[in-house]
Amino acid sequence: MNFSEKLQSLMLELDSATASTLDEAEQFRIKYLGSKGVFKELFEEFKTVSADEKRSFGKQLNQLKASAEASVEKWKASLNNSELTAVSTLDLTRPGALFELGAEHPISIIKREIIDIFHGIGFSVAEGPEIEDDWHNFSALNFPPEHPARDMQDTFFVKNPNGSDDYVLRTHTSSVQVRVMSEQKPPIRVIAPGRVFRNEAVSARSHCIFHQIEGLYIDEGVTFADMKQTLEYFAKEFFGKSKIRLRPSYFPFTEPSAEVDVYWGLENELDYRITKGTGWLEVMGCGMVDPAVLESSNIDPEKYSGFAFGMGLERSAMQRFQIPDIRMIFENDVRFLKQFQSAL
Ligand code: DAH
Repeated sequence: MNFSEKLQSLMLELDSATASTLDEAEQFRIKYLGSKGVFKELFEEFKTVSADEKRSFGKQLNQLKASAEASVEKWKASLNNSELTAVSTLDLTRPGALFELGAEHPISIIKREIIDIFHGIGFSVAEGPEIEDDWHNFSALNFPPEHPARDMQDTFFVKNPNGSDDYVLRTHTSSVQVRVMSEQKPPIRVIAPGRVFRNEAVSARSHCIFHQIEGLYIDEGVTFADMKQTLEYFAKEFFGKSKIRLRPSYFPFTEPSAEVDVYWGLENELDYRITKGTGWLEVMGCGMVDPAVLESSNIDPEKYSGFAFGMGLERSAMQRFQIPDIRMIFENDVRFLKQFQSAL
């Protein structure tokens, strides 16, 4: 191969050369541009070409060398970059992963709303145990022993470790009233949300576990009118309905006692269904705290009076969220739970 042919084939070689790693680029540099490389050899040989060819060969040789050097530069620069990005997984332009928000349980939603409403008018939250003694669940609330009113609430009895069986799973949150009254001095303004238990057959409409919220207001000079105002305010805030009525009823711990109905309206078929065609929805029990109950907790009934109320949460939740079966509330099936948006 003469010098001209060598330059020709070198040009083709350089044209088709590639490097996909920094290592390959370096190999290329050593092979062509290194101190024992192809160009070194060619420049040696160049010295021997005839004088009239020197001009054109020299130019070609310099151009080829420059292009080989440019290739090496180019490969090193781009491979350096891509290797850097391969090493670093940090892509600052990538959108962040979304946090999946949890859902709030329907009972918690209803409970929170009711607490908020009463909190706004000065009530604070009180709590009591789910396993309760007979005194707090019944006796102090004016249920006499053997009184049939105890059967109104199908009670789960609990054997306690020392053998006596006067413990129960609380059948209502009214037990918390007794605890609050024996621990606090009037004025008392509390609501007590909690789970309650009754030995009832489980069906789509009733369950042996459910939730109630109890309210208690005791001070000097509290009247039935105060109770009605408070409950009207609640009905307006919670149901968005401004008409209520109080129907005479009976509870051992209140006198007089009443059932509270909210006027729901009869505008569509759903209204007919949930109010059984009357337009009125029964929402809670209430009454003026019986003097005997105040006395049981050492509050002077001559000086103080008060009202109490209690309502179930399941019915409101079922109505609000169109839940057809109460059992869904306790099954914790995530497909059910996920339908409720978190308030956060
Ligand atoms: N404890 C009653 C029940 O479980 C509800 C109730 C009625 C609570 C009247 C009260 C009240 O505080 O005054 O059915």
